[in-house]
Amino acid sequence: MNVYLDNNATTMVDPAVYEAMIPFFSEVYGNPNSLHRFGTQSHPAITQAINQTYKAIGASDNDDIVFTSCATEANNWVLQSVWIDHILHGDKNHIVTTEIEHPSVLSTCKFLEDQGVKVTYLPVNDQGIVEAHTVKAFITDKTALVSIMWANNETGMIFPIAEIGEVCRQKGVLFHTDGVQAVGKIPVNLQEVHVDFMSMSAHKFHGPKGIGALYIRDSQPLSPLLHGGDQMGGRRSGTLNVPYIVGMGKALELATTDMEAKMSAIRAKRDRLEDALLGTLEDVFTVGDRSNRTPNTILISIRGVEGEGMLWDLNTALIGASTGSACASEDLQANSVMLAIGADNELAHTGIRLSLSRFTTDEEVDYVIDRFTHAVKRLRAISSSYAIVQPTEGGAAAACGIHH
Ligand SMILES: Cc1ncc(COP(=O)(O)O)c(C=O)c1O
Repeated sequence: MNVYLDNNATTMVDPAVYEAMIPFFSEVYGNPNSLHRFGTQSHPAITQAINQTYKAIGASDNDDIVFTSCATEANNWVLQSVWIDHILHGDKNHIVTTEIEHPSVLSTCKFLEDQGVKVTYLPVNDQGIVEAHTVKAFITDKTALVSIMWANNETGMIFPIAEIGEVCRQKGVLFHTDGVQAVGKIPVNLQEVHVDFMSMSAHKFHGPKGIGALYIRDSQPLSPLLHGGDQMGGRRSGTLNVPYIVGMGKALELATTDMEAKMSAIRAKRDRLEDALLGTLEDVFTVGDRSNRTPNTILISIRGVEGEGMLWDLNTALIGASTGSACASEDLQANSVMLAIGADNELAHTGIRLSLSRFTTDEEVDYVIDRFTHAVKRLRAISSSYAIVQPTEGGAAAACGIHH
């Protein structure tokens, strides 16, 4: 059996999305900017995709949604253009973000620091999130932007975006959220939450790779990152990627229709998997309170089992998962998000992320429980260093929001 449990990295394109895209490769292929019928033929489909996207996130008519090549572009765009508009050409000099943002935010912030911008990287609490009062404490009259993700890609932990948005609104500071791991997975309604900019990515919710979008509240100004043919009302130049735009709209519509039911079904499978692993194996820990996690995500640590070794065993069993750590030359790096939450170095080397989707079946969950348990036992049996240490109440694991 092949089991794909790396849906926070990317997802399968829903067959209905793929079907919707096909005509726009070879039948309706004109450039939407052309004045002839080959071009204008695609306009209704683009309008439909825009409408599907507005509806899915609760955007209003005054807001803009601009399609981008990916969420990395959307994140870069907001950070770099706020820098140009409000720091280079304004009187601000400060950006607030967190230690555990996606590299597309963190690396852009590092780039901006090199240009002289002051960046505050807020530490996360033992649940892997930042509270609104912490954000408030770090906003100054020089702060141009707060950029905080809606949900974390490693842990699935959901940040209090409504409260943080309210703090930013009261302080008159622009608020960007990286919504990549939230949109299509949990309810996102921008009528109810104050967000100025939100990045999204279609391949995280069963749409195609290579298409994302930036939501912009109240059509407020933001210098373009890409200059050229003035597509998307001059906000983002480049010939519109019609098949992918159609795919993104369709994928969002599918993900957000009957969302409660879809979320409950995924959550039930995720909880069963998590309970089985925690119940069967000694000395394993999951990160973050699951009532505040995206319903598809488990980040599990297995004392004494190096993440890469575990991935290898899972891969041999045809199960795709992820560690969140990277192999840097000869060095095996710890999971940086787990370290930020307060896990000890050894535990942070053992994190395995299992991320389900609406296509994950009960049979697959059963198979993973069996193979995962088997792999842990095998790897511990050959580990020279592993000795069972019974977790103590209030010990390091409990203290850092890691549950057993
Ligand atoms: C939280 C988060 N932000 C941004 C991205 C980047 O998305 P894209 O692949 O569309 O550039 C990812 C993808 O892994 C992500 O998980």
